Amino acid sequence: MEIMMMMLGTLKHFHLALLVATGGFALVAYAQDQAGFISIDCGLPKNSSYVEKTTGLFYISDAEFTDGGESVFLLPDNRGNYQQQMWSLRRFPEGIRNCYRINVTSGVKYLIRASFLYRNYDGKNTLPIFDIHLGANLWDTVNVTNASFSVVKEIIHVPPQNYIHLCLVKTGFSSPIISAIELRPMNNTAYQTQMGSIALVNRFDTGTVEKAYRYPDDIYDRFWDPYNPNNWTSLSNSSLIRNIRVRNSYHPPAIVMSTAATRKNIEDSLDFWLPNDESSSQLYYVYIHFAEIEDLKDHQIREFNISYDDVEDWYGPFSPNYSRTTTVFSPIALEAGRRISIFATRNSTLPPIVNGYEVYKVKEFLQSEADQNDVDAITILKSTYGVKRNWQGDPCTREYLWEGLSCSYHDFEAPRIISLNLSSSGLTGEIPPSVSNLKMIQILDLSNNKFTGSLPDFSQLTNLTVLNLENNILIGSVPAGLVEKWNNNMLLLSVCGNEDLISPVSCKNKQKNMAIIAIVASTVGVFVVLLTVSAIWWGLRRKRQQLIALSSTVENGSLESKKQQFTYSEVLTITKNFEKVLGKGGFGTTYHGHLGDTQVAVKMLSPSAARGHQQFHAEANLLTRVHHRNLTKLVGYCNDGTNTGLIYEYMANGNLQARLSDEYSKILMWEVRLRIALQAAQGLEYLHDGCKPPIVHRDVKSTNILLNENLQAKLSDFGLSKTFSTDSTDKSHISTTVVAGTPGYLDPEYYISNRLNEKSDVYSFGVVLLEIITGRPAISKSHHDRSIHVSNWITSIIRNGDIKRIVDSRLEGNFDINSAWKVVELAINCVSSKSTQRPSMSQVVIELKECLDKGIASTEESGDIDWKDSIETWPLNPITQLSPSVR
Ligand SMILES: *[C@@H]1O[C@H](CO)[C@@H](O)[C@H](O)[C@H]1NC(C)=O
Ligand SMILES: *[C@@H]1O[C@H](CO)[C@@H](O)[C@H](O)[C@H]1NC(C)=O
Ligand SMILES: *[C@@H]1O[C@H](CO)[C@@H](O)[C@H](O)[C@H]1NC(C)=O
Ligand SMILES: *[C@@H]1O[C@H](CO)[C@@H](O)[C@H](O)[C@H]1NC(C)=O
Ligand SMILES: *[C@@H]1O[C@H](CO)[C@@H](O)[C@H](O)[C@H]1NC(C)=O
Ligand SMILES: *[C@@H]1O[C@H](CO)[C@@H](O)[C@H](O)[C@H]1NC(C)=O
Ligand SMILES: *[C@@H]1O[C@H](CO)[C@@H](O)[C@H](O)[C@H]1NC(C)=O
Ligand SMILES: *[C@@H]1O[C@H](CO)[C@@H](O)[C@H](O)[C@H]1NC(C)=O
Ligand SMILES: *[C@@H]1O[C@H](CO)[C@@H](O)[C@H](O)[C@H]1NC(C)=O
Repeated sequence: MEIMMMMLGTLKHFHLALLVATGGFALVAYAQDQAGFISIDCGLPKNSSYVEKTTGLFYISDAEFTDGGESVFLLPDNRGNYQQQMWSLRRFPEGIRNCYRINVTSGVKYLIRASFLYRNYDGKNTLPIFDIHLGANLWDTVNVTNASFSVVKEIIHVPPQNYIHLCLVKTGFSSPIISAIELRPMNNTAYQTQMGSIALVNRFDTGTVEKAYRYPDDIYDRFWDPYNPNNWTSLSNSSLIRNIRVRNSYHPPAIVMSTAATRKNIEDSLDFWLPNDESSSQLYYVYIHFAEIEDLKDHQIREFNISYDDVEDWYGPFSPNYSRTTTVFSPIALEAGRRISIFATRNSTLPPIVNGYEVYKVKEFLQSEADQNDVDAITILKSTYGVKRNWQGDPCTREYLWEGLSCSYHDFEAPRIISLNLSSSGLTGEIPPSVSNLKMIQILDLSNNKFTGSLPDFSQLTNLTVLNLENNILIGSVPAGLVEKWNNNMLLLSVCGNEDLISPVSCKNKQKNMAIIAIVASTVGVFVVLLTVSAIWWGLRRKRQQLIALSSTVENGSLESKKQQFTYSEVLTITKNFEKVLGKGGFGTTYHGHLGDTQVAVKMLSPSAARGHQQFHAEANLLTRVHHRNLTKLVGYCNDGTNTGLIYEYMANGNLQARLSDEYSKILMWEVRLRIALQAAQGLEYLHDGCKPPIVHRDVKSTNILLNENLQAKLSDFGLSKTFSTDSTDKSHISTTVVAGTPGYLDPEYYISNRLNEKSDVYSFGVVLLEIITGRPAISKSHHDRSIHVSNWITSIIRNGDIKRIVDSRLEGNFDINSAWKVVELAINCVSSKSTQRPSMSQVVIELKECLDKGIASTEESGDIDWKDSIETWPLNPITQLSPSVR
């Protein structure tokens, strides 16, 4: 009880609190199913287990889940009031990263909790500080600030694989320690978020004075701490405990719901604040649990609203049902430092109440874990040979890549193992068959070991290009499949130094062969370095989110009127497992798909592009509301774990660049080109002038202008580069992967100002216009193999004053000369190096219309051209976006 009282005094140190659970009586009354619970007592000797007395939970030793570390027991005097699982710990003095691998059920939502109690077990009085990782991602820093208190980290997470890796990473001098690991399967419908995982900040039982609760009071074994600021008062009705209804998917404990906090005066509100001690871009989720616990008389009304900052009608008016639980939450993440306030409506005769609430912070886990089949194969290898090295945790985690391994990282897919070097590792016995399960392996080096037996047929490893087996003791003969690949120059094979192996592969060329192997291997090395650079990128914090839509809902109440969000499995169905690739771009790969009868284009964003998942959601949500007939319509989006994608209307005629290039025999006529230019200009003008605040496209180029079956042009990828490119003002990092704007189209002033604005789009549009006029790409090769930009090319030609040499020769002079001159002039103005000399997009639109009028007089254009702009307002103001309250 001492501990609890201290805790009440230092609520800021919530994480330090260890809970004293309820007494034994509760065990009988509430005995619950522990099915699926995994309770691991770290440091407990191998094979031992016990039932913890106060909770009835069954704990097992951690020995079979980790390779390293040492078991330590606290002295009995030091065990205090702590539950038994805290009496021992495992410490990791060796190595930088030590991991636990725990089998789970993939796709199930788990509450994962790790507890750390130092208690000066080593007598050194140095408080440990280290990091914990979940899979390939940083979970949190464990900062023990008082040896007497345990640190507890809790996260709600859906493991993508059939196991989790929980790793302790040394960041300073202190040895990481861990006391207990607990996993509790939850109801998947609870704690829904827009992205993967949420870490606990507070979980409060309001209205209770003294006790903290966990299992068996809470069937999910959440920890509930008492919370009562001194200006709140308590309400409780203990006779309600047995029949209060808590059966929504959150299932808060009856004992928590049977107490509530309220205010003495009806005009006072119950307020709490979201933390702002981390970065201001940290986002939060809040779950608030209500139940009326007083049997109200007829004339009594308890009715209140919930406000978020100054948004008074964020949720409400609302009257909790008597003895029935309602959980209110925001489906969209909330911003740091904001106030949530619960206050009575005018009609209410009673002050507001709250029975409990939970605050979580968003954890963006962006790095995928390695492919499960690869992990299984390499894990077998590891245990067969007892490979120690640093082989722990996820093999492909960029910063902690297993020694001798390299992996490939593609878009949103799980990393694959592509090379394995076990050279000179003193390995004996047969080459293990599990190596053949590394399906994507390209380079396999098993040289200079003592492998015996025959050489397995690795020829089914289709990507294997280098196989080095030199200096082993292999016997038999080289399998025919390998010999064939070697004969066809598809495989570099060396088996020299295996005296009893019959091989058609001569060792005379050894020098040459091995030189190539060295080159290939070092190329892979460079690749890995590049990947490491991009890994550093991943760690970058994204910019503070600028816009966020807010709305709230209750259990059973849904705000989604029209479906716009799709799960990853729906995307698989839509694209038939990504059957047909439409194109690849900076942000990811686009696939063809069907949504019902409608064709769609599904752009899956590479994880490196989609760095801000929450931001992604907010932006995608807003982009679905941008409508203009010259902008590709965003039909929906997918934001499922690490898989993010955008679903666009399908544009049958592909992009303008492809259409302008030689591949198409049917060339675009002059008037058609002008019309496409005008339509693209109108799309861009709408982004600049029709949206508030204006949207700068930042990546206007001919591949981003798409054509539908009627050759109507629509601008695509708007709103993406702002969200997904890296912060260009941050010069401490150099990136080659994500560029805000594409070379050839990039505003030269960008190099001075580092900022892209509307006029930067005008510049890029001017380049597109030049491509349309000349049929030349933005950057082409001159005779002397020097790159030449289309604007330089045109200024060199224009001196001769010969428009015929400027306009695409494939048009064979079929264009109106006046209109051509006018467009050239317009394009040149657009690409002025000074942004002040460039026209605005609305001027561009006016000029292009005039050009088209000139050009169109001579031809008959098909199509129902309606020049009137269809402008719809874009509700970007967050206030106007608040959904009406759900009742
Ligand atoms: C643990 O149990 C296994 C199988 O039950 C047994 O083989 C092993 O010797 C035991 N280890 C210890 C340290 O008791
Ligand atoms: C975890 O699962 C793998 C296979 O899925 C199995 O080989 C391994 O023994 C399991 N580990 C534990 C500790 O149960
Ligand atoms: C750890 O906690 C101490 C005390 O609160 C604080 O001064 C220190 O900055 C923290 N360290 C880190 C790395 O958060
Ligand atoms: C740790 O907490 C205990 C109990 O509140 C207190 O007596 C002690 O001074 C604290 N130690 C430090 C270093 O703050
Ligand atoms: C109520 O108490 C909290 C925390 O102690 C404090 O922040 C808040 O200002 C108080 N409110 C009023 C109205 O006194
Ligand atoms: C999860 O909660 C929902 C809503 O309360 C309920 O219908 C469903 O049965 C629950 N699922 C499980 C596995 O308990
Ligand atoms: C407490 O709950 C019991 C049982 O539902 C109810 O009869 C009683 O009126 C409640 N007490 C108050 C003060 O509302
Ligand atoms: C108060 O209640 C009356 C009658 O039920 C209703 O018409 C009115 O809209 C309510 N006012 C507010 C502010 O909720
Ligand atoms: C690896 O093999 C797969 C098919 O098994 C193939 O699709 C892929 O392109 C190959 N990758 C390389 C780099 O050769």
